[in-house]
Amino acid sequence: MKQKSLIDDLHDIQEEEEKNYLPRNKMIKTAKTTRISEAKVYGVSTFYTMFSVYPRGKHIIRVCRNLSCHLSDAEKIAEKLKEILNVDFGETTKDGEFTLEESSCLGMCSVSPAMTIDDEPFGNLVPENISEILRKIKEGSKK
Ligand code: FES
Repeated sequence: MKQKSLIDDLHDIQEEEEKNYLPRNKMIKTAKTTRISEAKVYGVSTFYTMFSVYPRGKHIIRVCRNLSCHLSDAEKIAEKLKEILNVDFGETTKDGEFTLEESSCLGMCSVSPAMTIDDEPFGNLVPENISEILRKIKEGSKK
């Protein structure tokens, strides 16, 4: 099996998991069914930042902290998110809704500062809009 197929499999597993991660038993099962070594499956699972081997929240917030965003006050966005969610980077909110992560460039430098929540991009962020964005995401996930 080619690596691209392994990545697709890992994406599928992670998407099916309520806690947005790759459980150990499923990585082992994938290694067996694909005949790829467990070490390689684990290596791929931990190499790409879109995968996690630890349980996470229902929604993953990735805040870009690369140069363009840094110069556009991304730090204020990060601080606002931490304040509202009461978590630091790498942590999940107590209600299990959000995990806050740092990201390298998201490819949205022209609308920096930027972040993504799951697959949805958000640019031209200002601290005053963060609460409303989170509210809409949370509300949308109840439907
Ligand atoms: S530097 Fe932040 S999106 Fe590119």
